[in-house]
Amino acid sequence: MKWMTSAEAREAFLDFFEEMGHRRVPSSSLVPGNDPTLLFTNAGMVQFKDVFLGLDKRDYPRATTSQKCMRVSGKHNDLENVGPSPRHHTFFEMLGNFSFGDYFKRDAIRYAYELLTKVYGLPENRLAFTVYENDDEAYNVWINDIGVDPKRVARMGSKTNFWQMADTGPCGPTSEIHWDKTPEAGVETIIPLMQAEDDRFLELWNLVFMQYNRTQPDPAHTGQFDEQLPAPGVDTGMGLERVVSVIQGVKANYETDLFMPIIEATQRLTGHTDAERDANIVPYRVIADHIRAAVFLIADGVLPGPKGRNSVCRLVIRRAARFGAKLGFNEPFLATVADTVIDVMGGHYAELVERADAIKRAITKEEIYFRRTLDRGLAELNEMLDDLQSRGETQLVGDRAFYLKATLGLPLEVIQDVAEERGATVDLDGFRRAEEQHALDSGGGKAMGKLEAVDLYNAVLSQLKDEGKLGESGVVYDPYGDTTMDDRVLALIVDGQRVERAMTGDRVEVVLGYTPFYVEAGGQVSDTGRIIGDSWELAVEDVRRPVGGLVVHLGEVVAGTPREGDDARAEVDAERRAAITRNHTGTHLLHAALRHRLGNHVQQRGSLVAPDRLRFDFTHDARV
Ligand code: SER
Repeated sequence: MKWMTSAEAREAFLDFFEEMGHRRVPSSSLVPGNDPTLLFTNAGMVQFKDVFLGLDKRDYPRATTSQKCMRVSGKHNDLENVGPSPRHHTFFEMLGNFSFGDYFKRDAIRYAYELLTKVYGLPENRLAFTVYENDDEAYNVWINDIGVDPKRVARMGSKTNFWQMADTGPCGPTSEIHWDKTPEAGVETIIPLMQAEDDRFLELWNLVFMQYNRTQPDPAHTGQFDEQLPAPGVDTGMGLERVVSVIQGVKANYETDLFMPIIEATQRLTGHTDAERDANIVPYRVIADHIRAAVFLIADGVLPGPKGRNSVCRLVIRRAARFGAKLGFNEPFLATVADTVIDVMGGHYAELVERADAIKRAITKEEIYFRRTLDRGLAELNEMLDDLQSRGETQLVGDRAFYLKATLGLPLEVIQDVAEERGATVDLDGFRRAEEQHALDSGGGKAMGKLEAVDLYNAVLSQLKDEGKLGESGVVYDPYGDTTMDDRVLALIVDGQRVERAMTGDRVEVVLGYTPFYVEAGGQVSDTGRIIGDSWELAVEDVRRPVGGLVVHLGEVVAGTPREGDDARAEVDAERRAAITRNHTGTHLLHAALRHRLGNHVQQRGSLVAPDRLRFDFTHDARV
């Protein structure tokens, strides 16, 4: 066996298939383009789904990739296994080779065997194989073409050896290649143990023979909704982390050079000895796994947030922070660990290096929000538990727990953990009842029913004027003076309705009497920043003027419960504003320079002024 670094193993795979006539295609984004059946890219074939279905054509019939994947939801979900399991990850890289109506089972098996035994030099007597129960063709390739011992080839059912990307879509029988961890147990037991899915084998590589399009979900696997694909193809996937663990001769993926530098970066911050680290290995692994996921998600534009994909990014950062707390971190630390991820992976994924600053900023911001939420929530929870103890009780009633979650944003799992540490439990039925009641109640307050957007804003504006909270000219707009201003919450809008209060995690629009935030105009983007109250905070992501006289600040409540009438301080992100100002000056300089070089006829036609760039459109009658 040849020892290789993970970078060498990845490169050797792609090189090998390039030599075998495959086009080396870059990994696609973690966010699948245009595929509503999937939250995240979960396999290498996702970017080729339409090619398999015959709906899209490429100018190459064979491809090879190292694909960024996430498995945190839906059909392929590994989140709960991360940490305790040495092999499971949320984010991982899948090495693959693909044939679009070109070669099929024979060559797919031949290539895989040659790569593993010749390029990676894995000993033949450490490999075992599976095929789909009635797939004689694949079985015969293993026995007759490759010449492996029939005692090493197990026939398996659809649970393990029929692959489908989601409930519908391309699918087909598979053949898997496994690493035998204990060859000394003998060849006689290979087939029965494989069929019993014994831990003796580590699945390395899945070769899928894409043959059908499943047109409707088919949980009983009757095959009745499987239509033949226009041309059968091949889709293979091998987890880079696993094969590297074999090549590097270590017991867990976390011990490879993909993870060790990340774990060591965390260890440098804790100051643990190796023995202390190993005694706490679960938090170290969870942090290493989740920080990789967060870095790659943010690089692909998925920022932490309350819903959908964004909520997954939030979940992995908060989970990593929570496991960090178990190691004693009480300040943001994940951005430092993220630096190491960018170092380890940036050589192959340039987007990490390009977006390093933005990635680290987003991670730290989320950690800070989470910490504030935790501090406030834990203080109240501990008071509740003290109270409970003094009364000799052990169960926290559901609506108290729900209050901690809805009002203070404390995750239920944290409430349960802390209660358990103090010998108490949480009344989950009561919690669910409170949650349902809340869903019924919200929409109360000053709800005006759902209105068309413009009508809603006009109604809010005239209500505020009638109530004497706004003068005739509406919100006082002053983005040219101080970047901080103290005022009051005049109105809150959630989901198209005016409400009296908003909860942690809500997306809300806030109206103040005065605003220092610039509203996008003339190509210059809006300011961002925050609005803070006594015990709450809103992250302002955008500012709009939906109707003349009304300015709304849009964003997410990251802590606490803002209410109408609360005192509030508006703070523009001054650093970002300064960057925008510099680019604004840049457009004037560029305009002057163009007139100087090209002539006074040069006219500005449009522009974009953002913190990180500017664009200047102008008229000129020739090429510059
Ligand atoms: N699509 C298959 C898998 O994910 C092979 O790439 O296992």
